[in-house]
This record gives sequence, structure tokens and C-alpha cells, in this order.
Amino acid sequence: MKEISYRVSKAPKSAIRELFDLATGRSDVISLGIGQPDFKTPELAIQGNINALKKNITMYAPTKGVPELLELIEKKLRNFNKINLNWRENIIVTNGGSQALTLAFASIFNPGDELIISSPNFVSYFYCSLFFGVKVKEVKRNKDFSPDIERIKNSITDKTKAIIINSPNNPTGAALNPKQLKEIVEIIIDNDLYLISDEVYENYLYDELKHTSPASLNGMFERTITVNAMSKLFSATGFRLGYAVASKKIIDLMEKFHQYTVAGTNHAAQYGFIEALKIDPKFFHEILESFDNRRIFVYNRLKEIGFDVIKPLGAFYIMPSTEKFKISGESFSKDIMKKQAVAIVPGSIFGSFSENMIRISYATEMEKLEEAMNRIEKFVNSL
Ligand SMILES: Cc1ncc(COP(=O)(O)O)c(C=O)c1O
Repeated sequence: MKEISYRVSKAPKSAIRELFDLATGRSDVISLGIGQPDFKTPELAIQGNINALKKNITMYAPTKGVPELLELIEKKLRNFNKINLNWRENIIVTNGGSQALTLAFASIFNPGDELIISSPNFVSYFYCSLFFGVKVKEVKRNKDFSPDIERIKNSITDKTKAIIINSPNNPTGAALNPKQLKEIVEIIIDNDLYLISDEVYENYLYDELKHTSPASLNGMFERTITVNAMSKLFSATGFRLGYAVASKKIIDLMEKFHQYTVAGTNHAAQYGFIEALKIDPKFFHEILESFDNRRIFVYNRLKEIGFDVIKPLGAFYIMPSTEKFKISGESFSKDIMKKQAVAIVPGSIFGSFSENMIRISYATEMEKLEEAMNRIEKFVNSL
């Protein structure tokens, strides 16, 4: 038989999904593996979806999304992100943030182009690159997980097409400060590059930090593809809705790719998203406070146990080093699952520089976090 796709064959099955599969059906396992908030999707969003189905909204949706939804996303982007845009030209509704990323890759890259990624970083960036024939230039983050600006500059070649950023970040919990963002923006402008800005965790920022969307900065709208989703803000990962924001030229290409590959997104679910966007954003304050308490608790416990760990500034992940305990992230993850029934993701899946790290998601209720930390302590003491 002839060879099947070598690009897709090269990608391993999602290690996070495998972990998720191992944990399901086992009542003793505490999962710190999944990037999914634990609060309920707002009832209004669910009703919006149900009502649309009851009205027989079951046919294809407009390719770029339902106009009312696009208008509400525009309003949110103007008010919250300070991005000046027009919903008719600059937004496309996608199947989650994941497909917004796919569209970003489809619309700007040609095979052989180079993309700069600060590592560790979100897994999909590596595999989207592989699928689209994009060469990844991985740049090791600084010790505190901030981007290494000098190394980024040094990794630019005449083939570099774009830099991807994700702030707040999965898996490190890092968030760019204004100075770091400014330095990245300068690199983009000075080298005539595109910036893919994955902002799915924009609301999960602690210590009074504020999110800045690079597309709102001078000279950046035409160069930036902003990726966002309903998933994390509304705890609605299963709705599979997100959006990409870009110049008309890029959105027009995305529309074509979208039309011929997925023919749109779930029509009725978009009415759920519409209702979610009408909710007063203050609904999130209490949720953020709860995530902040978990962040502080997990960080303090990990320090107490003896981990070298950076305090996260955003998202709901923390990435301690396992080096001190002379064990790789992969062995740690496998062994703790076997011995203490805690699901933790090994750092190695997030790039080349996190072999001796693990990623913990603290999007889990406090009681479970407390028990998980006790189990981690027992495990570490047994090493
Ligand atoms: C950084 C980052 N970007 C994008 C996504 C994809 O989001 P969605 O579930 O909306 O496809 C995730 C999901 O975990 C993520 O962590």
C-alpha cells in the first residue's frame, strides 16, 4: 500500500486526551490534567442553544457566523479589547479556539515558512505547524517563563513569517507585561512579520493585571490574527465555538478555507454564544476569585513540598520542575498515576525545553486540590 500522510502520521495522539481517557471511569483518580474550567456553563447560554433548536435552526449557518453574534463579538472587542474593527469584514466564527488557530495557519503560511514559538507552549501550535508544512523555531523561555526577546530576535531569518504568542499562557501560567508585549510588537513591525495572538485565557489574570490585545496597538491591526473562544470564559468547551479576528484580506481567505473544509459552525450553538455575550461580564468576578484562591493554594503547597516553581500570573496552570527530585516529567506523570492516582501532564508535550517539568491544571474544586497535593507530597517523599 502507498504511504499515508507522513505529516499527520508524525503527530502523536494527544497525551492529554489519553490521560483524560485513563482517568474516566476510575473514581479514585484526581485529574489535574484537563484544561477545562469546573464551573457550570451559564444557563442563559444553554437556553439560547435550546431555544434555537426548538425554532428549527438546524440548517447551515452563514459561513462567517450569525450576524447578531458577529455584532456582539465586535462590541466586546471594541469595549474590552479596544480593537477598532468592523464585524462585516474582520471576524469569523470558528469551531473553538482550535479552529481559529487552524484558520490562522491556513491563511498566512506557505510550506517552508518559519514560525517562532516561545517554549514551553500550547501543543497545538507544534502540530498545526507540522500539518501546514511550517518550520517551527522554538525559543526557550527565560527561567520565569517570560519570552527571551534577544533569542527571539536572533532566531529570525528571511523565511520567518510570524510569531505566535499566548498570554495568559497554557502551560506555564505566564502573562506578558506591557514592556514585553511592546518588545514583541517592535520585532513584528521591524521585521515585517505577522503576529498570531491566542487570547483564550484573557479573563484569567490575577494580581490586578490587565490584558492587552496586540491588535489594539498602533500599526498592529493589519499584522495580527487574534484567536479567542467561548470555551474558557463561559466554561463551554463542548460548545466548540470561537472566533478569529484579522484584516479583511486574511478573513476573506479564512472564509474560503472554512467553507471548503467545515462549511461553518454549529448554527443553534451560536445562539447560545449570543446569549452568553449578553451576560454582564461581572459574572466572572467571583469565578476569578475562586481560581485565584486555588492558584495561591497550589503554588504554596508545591513550594512547601519542595518544588522549584514559578508563581503563575494567569490562566489556570502551573508548571513546576521535577529536576530536583531526579525524575523526568514523563516518569513523574506515569508513576504518580500508578501509585497515587493523580493525573498530571508531562512537560515534554509542550516543546523541547520542558522535559523535566509537569503541568498541573488547578481548574478543579478546592477539596480535590487539597487531596491531590497530599498525594503529590506522599509521592515526592517516596522518591
Ligand atoms: C492556549 C490555548 N489555545 C487554544 C485552545 C483551544 O481552545 P478551544 O477549546 O476553544 O478549541 C486551548 C485549549 O485548551 C488553549 O489552551
